[in-house]
Amino acid sequence: MAGRIPKSFIDDLVDRTDIVDLIDSKVPLKKAGKNYQACCPFHNEKSPSFSVSPDKQFYHCFGCGAHGNSIGFLMEYEQLEFVEAIEELARHHSLDVPRENLSGKTQTFESVSREQKSSDYDLMETAAKFFQHQLKHNENSSVVIDYLKGRKLSGQTCQTFGIGYAPDSWDSALKTLSKTPEQQQQLVDLKVLTKNDNGRTYDFFRNRVMFPIRDKRGRVVGFGGRVIDDGTPKYLNSPETRIFHKGRELYGFYQARTANPKLEKVLIVEGYMDVVSLAEQGINYAVAALGTATTPEHMSMLFRATKQVICCYDGDQAGRNAAWRALENALSHLKDGIDLRFAFLPDGEDPDTMVQQEGKEAFEQRMSESTPLLSYFFEHFLSELDITTDAGKSALLANAKPLIEQVPSDYYKEALLAKLEQLIGKQVTTVNRSPVAQIKQQQTELQVTPMRRAIALLLQTPSLANSIQYIPALAHAELPGFDLFINIQKSILDEPTIKSHVLLERYRDKKEYSFLSRLFAWEHHIEPENLEGEFQDTFKVLQDSYLAKRLEMLEIKDKTGQLDRNERSEYMALIVALKNNR
Ligand code: UTP
Ligand code: MN
Repeated sequence: MAGRIPKSFIDDLVDRTDIVDLIDSKVPLKKAGKNYQACCPFHNEKSPSFSVSPDKQFYHCFGCGAHGNSIGFLMEYEQLEFVEAIEELARHHSLDVPRENLSGKTQTFESVSREQKSSDYDLMETAAKFFQHQLKHNENSSVVIDYLKGRKLSGQTCQTFGIGYAPDSWDSALKTLSKTPEQQQQLVDLKVLTKNDNGRTYDFFRNRVMFPIRDKRGRVVGFGGRVIDDGTPKYLNSPETRIFHKGRELYGFYQARTANPKLEKVLIVEGYMDVVSLAEQGINYAVAALGTATTPEHMSMLFRATKQVICCYDGDQAGRNAAWRALENALSHLKDGIDLRFAFLPDGEDPDTMVQQEGKEAFEQRMSESTPLLSYFFEHFLSELDITTDAGKSALLANAKPLIEQVPSDYYKEALLAKLEQLIGKQVTTVNRSPVAQIKQQQTELQVTPMRRAIALLLQTPSLANSIQYIPALAHAELPGFDLFINIQKSILDEPTIKSHVLLERYRDKKEYSFLSRLFAWEHHIEPENLEGEFQDTFKVLQDSYLAKRLEMLEIKDKTGQLDRNERSEYMALIVALKNNR
């Protein structure tokens, strides 16, 4: 498992990036007062309402409400995952991304981790070569080659996919690949070898046809191994390792991209054999998930690489379930301009048998006639629900609406809603017709209470943290927000030089992040010389309301004779303090 990226590295990265430069390199900006502006890249507009603040190192669109820091911008604009955005920014500054090892200690790629990894990749490549070699030079070679021929695979295709053979032996990979005890351990870590409870180490794959799994960059990260007879399990897959994450890799993706620099479409199929057999027939753009369902990560990766994705599954119930899972996982990544389709093969066929039966052209014709997302979405429900009844209509509404609301593409979201309305015969009210409308609504809804104001001012101007007392006990006050306020104040007191956008970034994976981002974007319009005074006044209001509540509580306890000694002195002190305040 890859370790976490250290917080300090992210801080530093955010700190050294100038958001104005970064955005300007992608969306040319014009100076306007102390900020910069442009037409918003996140919605269509004619006059610029997208503003970038060099002071806050934050962007904000007054039209659609989009906002964020440099990492957020890259994630939105380039459609990157968080870690990818970090990697992109790091590249921009020619930095390597360090990772913490599992004990929490930071290693840099340079010193250990990168070396470890590159040695892992080398060793996996060597293992793949070893299996490939065994395909030709093992005593069982002729049987295995006959098997592959029987499955209509040419030597060329086996070569392209690096197909190999793991010998029928407990120790041939062990003997050939591990030259030192360290290497043996590394092979166990990478699951090329395995260790039993008695501490005996032996080959993980035995007497199997081997399919090396390559990552996006072509490095071998794992293997799938198929039995040659009808033993079980039919396929044995490498378990997850520090370099192999099933939810992230797709079998055949690297080969598809290599064969098609402009990857115009991708076919998602279920099996290794399907990918390889399709390629044999000239359909060299198929990929397969690795014995798991297609994940949202897979979908997001494909939508970034191509415009058309066809999910091709068996016509049986299992295939239908897999297709629906794929659809569910695709919705939250569905961008405008993506063509997502679903193809179902006749019962009993898979892409391998189908393409062998009907050939490339007929198969591609079949794929081009596949069902578009919009139709499949409703066909799925209509096959189970009778929407001539109110019960059916309401079930359709209840099932479909939450799914539709996840869709980020305005076009698809509107189209799905329109179709839903047509089917149930009435208008559907949804809180968030589109993400844009949703954010707009949030913007107008943000009421600036004293607590929000205090948090916003502190977050935007960390140096204010010193201008008031630090009272940790307030974190436990029964006033919502105090815990967050104290938490922020403490971070600043611990690191007095922390910049506000770096501070905000720390909250990215916390539930408060979107709330804090909105407070961060909020314009307070307070003149710099009045800021401290305004902040102290706001804090005092909060503190007083806390003290008043506390006093009330102690008063009640006093009347019912429940005050202990400490509480009594607190009670007295409070009475005095509040009297002096008035
Ligand atoms: P299938 O059983 O459909 O295999 O499993 P296939 O690709 O058509 O293989 P052939 O044609 O029988 O050789 C589809 C995928 O499910 C995973 C594998 O990733 C396989 O490619 N699987 C299947 C396993 O991981 N383990 C199994 O035992 C079976
Ligand atoms: Mn098959």
